[in-house]
Amino acid sequence: MEKIYGVIGSPIAHSMSPEMHNDLFQYYKLNARYHAFHVEQENLKDAIKGFKAIGISGFNVTIPHKVAILELLDEVEEVAANIGAVNTVVNDKGKLVGYNTDGQGFITSIKTKVKKELADCRVLLIGAGGAARAIFISLASVGVSNIDIVNRTAKKAEEIITSCNYTTVSSFYTLSEAKYDLEKYDIIINTTSIGMHPNIDETPISITQLSKESVVSDIIYNPLKTSFLKEAEKKGAIIDNGIGMFVFQGALAFEKWTGIFPDPLRMEKVVRTRLGGTT
Ligand code: ATR
Repeated sequence: MEKIYGVIGSPIAHSMSPEMHNDLFQYYKLNARYHAFHVEQENLKDAIKGFKAIGISGFNVTIPHKVAILELLDEVEEVAANIGAVNTVVNDKGKLVGYNTDGQGFITSIKTKVKKELADCRVLLIGAGGAARAIFISLASVGVSNIDIVNRTAKKAEEIITSCNYTTVSSFYTLSEAKYDLEKYDIIINTTSIGMHPNIDETPISITQLSKESVVSDIIYNPLKTSFLKEAEKKGAIIDNGIGMFVFQGALAFEKWTGIFPDPLRMEKVVRTRLGGTT
């Protein structure tokens, strides 16, 4: 029987996940289909009950359900529980198990760009929302201990630092303080929406001096090269856009569902074709 997978969220119509996963199911000759399900907040509980009843094989979770889903699952993996958000669910013989492949997806992507051992890298995270939290805790869980946060609101950054179950040495800076000491970081990541379409001329912090080896990453993929990345490239940094995190969060989910780690270049091609018209 054909296996069913999907993504739940609201809005969901523009999700690129169905195209990406259905292409993989076809490529790896798996009898499976991935659908987008529009689920409003008040219907989340019923939707999960229905998924269980029909025996869905697995699904992704996106805005606004990533946090609310936790209490509806049978089990939540340790890092996802610490993040407090789930983006991937596996149906393990009737038991729904939650994971977070967003942070791990970022890590898998950035590893292809960083020359040093990841655990030895000094990281500066810009922003303290859901994406920043997933990246911070995932990095800490794989042994990256030097992670600083820059954010407009101190309280949100401090909350991430103090609630992380993995040991880090972390400081908080305001947006204007951040620009003075960028040279000491191996990886600088923008997780805010600053610079996203239509505000494409905005940058979260101004880039002064960078280390030549440093990687500057922006999780935004619309536009593919934000003003922040353009500035970083001019200063000689290696740059990394948001496609990598998106592709690898999907690749890791696919692996959890099927046991196959899919070809990321194939996935990137699907995403780039889809983004072609909008960026
Ligand atoms: P996500 O879940 O996608 O990470 P989010 O939770 O809305 O999104 O978080 C967005 C982050 O971008 C926050 O850290 C936010 O700063 P605050 O914590 O001060 O709210 C930051 N952000 C968004 N727009 C911003 C702006 N115009 N100036 C400064 N920071 C901004």
